[in-house]
Amino acid sequence: MLMSIRMAPPLSLIFLILIHGVSSAEWGVSYIHPHICALKHSAVIMSCTYTYPAGYEIRKVFWTKNHVKVGKEYPDLSEDPEYSQRLQYLGDEQKNCTIRLSHVTQKDSHMYCFRFTTNVTDGKWKGYPGVTLTVTDLQVESPETLKEGDSVRITCKSSCALTDRATFIWYRNSQPLTERRDRNNQLLLQSVRREDAGRYSCGVQGHTYISPAVQLSVTYPPKSVSVSFSPSGVIVEGNSVTLICSSDSNPPAEISWFKGGTFVGSGRIYRILNISSNHSGEYKCKSRNKHGDKYSETVTLNVMYPPRNVSVFINGSAEIVEGDSVTLICSSDSNPPALNFSWFQESQSSSVGSGQSFSALQSGRFFCEAHNQHGSQRSDAVTVTVKDPPKCVSVSISPSGEIVEGDSVTLICSSDSNPPAEISWFKGRTFVGSGKIYSILKISSDHSGEYKCKSSNEHGEKHSDAVTLNVMYAPKSVSVSIIQFGQILEGDSVTLICSSDSNPPALNFSWFKENQISSVGSGHSFSALQSGHFYCEAHNQHGSQRSDAVTVTGEESPSSVRRELRLATSYRRALRAAYERSTVPDIKK
Ligand SMILES: *[C@@H]1O[C@H](CO)[C@@H](O)[C@H](O)[C@H]1NC(C)=O
Ligand SMILES: *[C@@H]1O[C@H](CO)[C@@H](O)[C@H](O)[C@H]1NC(C)=O
Ligand SMILES: *[C@@H]1O[C@H](CO)[C@@H](O)[C@H](O)[C@H]1NC(C)=O
Ligand SMILES: *[C@@H]1O[C@H](CO)[C@@H](O)[C@H](O)[C@H]1NC(C)=O
Ligand SMILES: *[C@@H]1O[C@H](CO)[C@@H](O)[C@H](O)[C@H]1NC(C)=O
Ligand SMILES: *[C@@H]1O[C@H](CO)[C@@H](O)[C@H](O)[C@H]1NC(C)=O
Ligand SMILES: *[C@@H]1O[C@H](CO)[C@@H](O)[C@H](O)[C@H]1NC(C)=O
Ligand SMILES: *[C@@H]1O[C@H](CO)[C@@H](O)[C@H](O)[C@H]1NC(C)=O
Repeated sequence: MLMSIRMAPPLSLIFLILIHGVSSAEWGVSYIHPHICALKHSAVIMSCTYTYPAGYEIRKVFWTKNHVKVGKEYPDLSEDPEYSQRLQYLGDEQKNCTIRLSHVTQKDSHMYCFRFTTNVTDGKWKGYPGVTLTVTDLQVESPETLKEGDSVRITCKSSCALTDRATFIWYRNSQPLTERRDRNNQLLLQSVRREDAGRYSCGVQGHTYISPAVQLSVTYPPKSVSVSFSPSGVIVEGNSVTLICSSDSNPPAEISWFKGGTFVGSGRIYRILNISSNHSGEYKCKSRNKHGDKYSETVTLNVMYPPRNVSVFINGSAEIVEGDSVTLICSSDSNPPALNFSWFQESQSSSVGSGQSFSALQSGRFFCEAHNQHGSQRSDAVTVTVKDPPKCVSVSISPSGEIVEGDSVTLICSSDSNPPAEISWFKGRTFVGSGKIYSILKISSDHSGEYKCKSSNEHGEKHSDAVTLNVMYAPKSVSVSIIQFGQILEGDSVTLICSSDSNPPALNFSWFKENQISSVGSGHSFSALQSGHFYCEAHNQHGSQRSDAVTVTGEESPSSVRRELRLATSYRRALRAAYERSTVPDIKK
């Protein structure tokens, strides 16, 4: 069939008609696929047949780009460097003019025509219109973001409908997808899941060309929200602790931190430097994006610390009566709670007890020390006082030994008591003073007697044994008594008795007559045989004293003497008895 005569000059036409008469075939080129849509990088076969009348001999067959003429002739595509390597003539020199063009690119999109020449000058032909080649690439068409659960169709687009029966292949992250391939060039993603996110590209079976990848992102609310913290294990006050909130979400979530119900911070990482016990508690994070929010499980931070605020609690009164005890309880704040306690008494180096409570039996200042595995601390001391009624009450005398009138004497009352006792002094049953020390300056015989002290506090009182003060003194109040009844006769004697007050009693007496230098007698009594003035002197180891003189005269009635002497004798007996009692009878002169 005559395809084109446009390029043939009129002479040729005539000539052809002439030829036609002798030949069965006409001049012509026929293309099986006049329009070819080819995939980039593929090889294209342009099938073609041609005919010419008999009597001609083919000189040259070649393909050329339409409309491109260099000089008078069409250029041979196989001599074009851009094509020469890729072009392969599959036909022959009779009727088959098929070629193969490999590695096509968009630049190859063009109309291509087959041309041949013969041994006759005008016997040349070009098959016009030729084969229109369109080279296409592939583009994935899809929305950029999808929300989880959406359904979507992704299209693998080409600029022309591929001539070959194409089977599309889909790739996600360069891995071929084997499932859910929809018909034609579309991929159906039904109820999109997070796993469907990725870089999508498409290709055609049998071809190496793959489209550029398109990122498909699937958004979803936060999931798998969890908290981890480091260091794991025991957290001790002063440590630094890092809490990390992990969650899966798209778009990325904003993180908030809560302790209990209270917001404490934001950001994926929550750091607590130098943790203290009041950071203990339950923590959780909240992950939030535009599709929703979600809380993590709570994690518990339990911050350990050594005992502090250690104090002693006194159950009852810190003042006890002797024989009782008071319980001291050691309290402390620590984590874990202290289980190990030691008790100390001030001024004692070793501990006096252990355990959380301690029974104090004696006075003192006590403190406890609480321990746990992280350390220990001591309490302040508490004072325990044991209250005693006075005991061991006694009196001591200073100076010891003999006490002589005029000395200074100190009596000291000692007693053992808590609280300290008050002291009272008694002479006999008479209160004479108070205070631990009772002093007598310039003691006199009047101070002789039995003394004792009384020690008393709120818990009781006790008397000391009595001590006797025996004050020694020289004779005093020395006097002479005359035993005379009526008138003394000439030749009778008159008995004089010397009496004195002294301690110890005077045993040594001397008798004097006035105007005589030497003594006239000794002893307690003296018989005066003559008239005169007599006096006596009494001695003890502390001194002596003289009496006043008494006068003895000599005129008596003899009749009454005997009777009166009898009376004198009985009186003398009374005097001796009185003397032996060291008391001086009241004698009428
Ligand atoms: C062309 O070749 C054919 C066959 O070989 C021959 O018969 C014919 O004479 C040739 N034509 C010319 C002009 O040489
Ligand atoms: C032309 O030649 C090619 C390659 O040898 C062959 O595949 C094709 O079938 C032939 N075409 C015709 C119409 O004979
Ligand atoms: C840690 O905290 C304690 C009390 O909160 C403080 O006494 C100490 O100085 C702090 N240490 C540091 C290194 O900040
Ligand atoms: C306890 O926490 C508060 C704030 O939460 C802080 O001001 C205080 O210093 C902390 N106490 C200690 C002993 O660290
Ligand atoms: C000690 O205990 C008291 C009362 O329990 C408390 O008020 C105080 O804050 C505590 N001190 C310390 C350092 O923990
Ligand atoms: C304190 O003493 C009372 C009575 O002796 C007793 O019942 C109570 O349990 C004690 N308290 C403590 C904390 O030991
Ligand atoms: C209590 O603590 C002291 C001092 O750390 C230790 O020597 C003692 O073994 C501890 N006792 C017990 C029963 O843990
Ligand atoms: C009595 O006292 C005098 C004078 O001091 C003394 O000389 C004399 O020896 C004493 N006599 C007796 C027995 O003590």
